[in-house]
Parts: sequence; structure tokens; C-alpha cells
Amino acid sequence: MSLIAQQAEAAMQAARLHYQRVLSEYGDRPLTQGPLLVKNLLRGNRGVPGGLTDTSFVHPYKGVQFNGDLSCDDAVEQAKIPEAIFWYMLTERLPTVEELRGFQQDLGQRLEVPGYAWDVLDALPPSLHPMTQMQTVTNALEGEAKFRDAYLDGAKADEYWRLMLEDSLDLIAWQHQVAAYIYRRAFGDGKRIAPDAAHDWSEQFVRMCGLPDPDGHLTSYMRVYFISHADHEATNASANTAAIVNSTLATMATTLGATYGALSGPRHGMANQESLMFIEKVLEEFGGVPNETEIAQYIDDLLDSGGVLAGFGHAQLRDIDIRFVVLTNFLETIPEVANTNEIIRCMRLIAEIAPEVLGKRPKIANPHQNIDFGSGAVLSALGLKERNFYTVLFSISRMWGVIAQAVRARAEGRPIMRPISLTISMVEEAAKGGPAVLDPYFSADA
Ligand code: MLT
Repeated sequence: MSLIAQQAEAAMQAARLHYQRVLSEYGDRPLTQGPLLVKNLLRGNRGVPGGLTDTSFVHPYKGVQFNGDLSCDDAVEQAKIPEAIFWYMLTERLPTVEELRGFQQDLGQRLEVPGYAWDVLDALPPSLHPMTQMQTVTNALEGEAKFRDAYLDGAKADEYWRLMLEDSLDLIAWQHQVAAYIYRRAFGDGKRIAPDAAHDWSEQFVRMCGLPDPDGHLTSYMRVYFISHADHEATNASANTAAIVNSTLATMATTLGATYGALSGPRHGMANQESLMFIEKVLEEFGGVPNETEIAQYIDDLLDSGGVLAGFGHAQLRDIDIRFVVLTNFLETIPEVANTNEIIRCMRLIAEIAPEVLGKRPKIANPHQNIDFGSGAVLSALGLKERNFYTVLFSISRMWGVIAQAVRARAEGRPIMRPISLTISMVEEAAKGGPAVLDPYFSADA
């Protein structure tokens, strides 16, 4: 059994007991103070507790907290690499040096990607959006799922998490390779570069992309980037999708493929690409970095014309996204880039001016920048300029959290997710006649 599976065993057992105890002791107690309002439902379930989050909670002002207690900046400082934050999300403690080495060795022994995955990729046009390629190959890797065969052979429910973890470890060892080859096909010479187990996962990735990194800055940034994007509770669009697919007892590859589908949209994983496009457009239109007055007017005009500022605001956050702060703090380690690069200078200027401009609009609940506004600008400044690829980077970061969530959900023995839906006419009837109008539609044994 894998070292991480052995170490996770006690945490998984405790998680299952905790889940069962809360359900049996408190199942019939109210969870929220107020009634569900029509606008909660009609505006994408905003404000409704809609998922169970084990691996991270997103505080409206403090941002992401891994396992509910470790802030993003502490996570980057203490975990340092995504392998360690994954261990933390799964076992609720950081690995020792030996455990981390053992985990990396385990991943190192799994590096052989099934040949058919490369064939699938080679059959796709390199110009196909990198996210579509990522999703297609990840779905194909379902062919290796041990969970499926074991399930068909009658594996017991309390073994499911272990099987999912086993499949997940393979996927972790393969996903950065798939992503790097997608990059090589679209933006490099099309040749695959083999991984080298002597390096950590992030460094392997940068090397496999064939990206020059003479001072190691890009690799260092990618470690911070992967941790910062690793998890954002269970109800963002991709994690929510993953939770639903996972709850059907699908395999981990299929769950990840579905995650990537949700991430591919511009309102979610593609927002980083749009933010960088906006910064580049500003630079082009002004022939360089504008001054404060010019950019304030430009944003005002954009909003007046019905436009939105990609990378600002957030459904759950009500302050600056701590992840933006962590990613842009990285710039302090590379002042020579930060002070001269026009994209960085323009990104910082907009980040400084836009909140005040947006804040004057009463309908905007959160005028602050989120992670997407800074992540791509730093990538670009460090030489990873291909915007089309950014969603893939988000995906292979979010993979860590989605896997940890999925394994824990299996350990707890959660059932299939199936909330109820209402028609818009039912909503209207309940709003006019009171919630009791809906009583006949709720099943008594829910
Ligand atoms: C995320 O990291 O998933 C995004 O910030 C979106 C979200 O949390 O809703």
C-alpha cells in the first residue's frame, strides 16, 4: 500500500465517523438562520450552503483556508510544493521530510503514461484549445482505473477511498506530463520531453515544457501558483462538478475530466486568460502603461458600455483575494522583472485604481481583484506567454484539491448528490403564497 494511503488511513476513518455522527445526531436540525430567498436560487444559488467542504473553506474576507485553518500565504510558506499541500488536505497535517520524499518516490515510480494516451493526443490537432486536449486525454486515462474493476468485482464501500487514491496517484504522476506535451505540440517543437523523478513535480513540469528557466524563477513561481490554485472549497463550479460526478461512483479520471470541462469556461478557469488579454489591450491602446487618470476613465467607460473587468469581484469573496496577494508578492523576489515589465506595471496600476472606480458602482458587491487578475501577468513576465494554455495550468493545480476532496468524500461514504429543482412558476407561487406552497414537492424522507 502507498505510504500516503497508509498515512491517510486514520484521517479517512475519522472523517467517516465524524460524517456519520453529525448526520445521525443532528440530521433534523436547521442549518441556516433565514429562509432561502428567491434571489438565492435565481442567482446561481449564491449564499446557499450547497456543498460539504473538507479540504478548504473560503472566508469572505480572509480567502481560502486549507482544511479550514491554513491560510494561502501560510500554505505557500509551510508546504512549499503542491505535493505537500495535497498531503495536508488528505491527512490534515504536513508531511515530514521522509514522508514527502517517500510520496515523491511513489509518484516517481508511476511516471510511465499509458501509450494510448499519447496516441489520443497525437490524433488531435495541436491547434485544438489546450483545455479540450487536456480533458480528452484525461477522460481516456479512465482505461487504467483500478476502481472500476474492483467495484465490478464487489469491492466493499469502505475500500472505495483507497482505490480512488491509488488511481489518483497515477493521475498525479501523469497530468503534468500530458499538460507539458500539449504545450510542446502547440507552442514548442512537438517533441515530448521525459520527466525526471530527481526533481519535484513543479520543476519536472517546467522542464518538460522545455521552458528556459536559467534562474529558476519560473519553477519557483509555479510552485506558488500550483499551491494557490489547488483548492477553493467544494462549491466553485469545477469542484462542485467534480463532487457531483464523484458522488455517482465514477472513476477519478472521469471526475477530473468533468472538472476540466467546468474549468474551461471564461467565467471560471479561463478568466486568467481574459484578464491578461485586457491588460495587453490597455497597453496596446495607450501605446504603453497609461497614467492613473487615463486608466480610471478607461475602466469607467468600459463599465458604462456594459463591459466587465475580468479578474475583479468574486461570488464568495468580499475583499482582495489573498491568492492575488500571494502571487503578486512573488514579484518581490524578482524586482528586476517587476519594475521593468510593462505587463506587470500595467497590472499593478489597474489593481490599484480599479477597486475605487468599481466601488462607486452600487451594484458591485466586491470591487477587488481576484487571483485571475495577477496570475497570468506574472506567468507572462516570466516567459510563459501563451495565454491559451493558462486554463490548463489552473486545471493541473486544481487537480490536487479535487482529488483530495473526492478521496475524502468516498471515505465518508457520502451518497449521490441530488438536490431538488423547482420550476420558475413554482418559485413565483411560493414567493406569492409562502414557502408552504412547496410542501407537496418535498419528499418526506429527504
Ligand atoms: C476558484 O478558484 O475556483 C475561483 O476563484 C472561483 C470560485 O471560487 O468560485
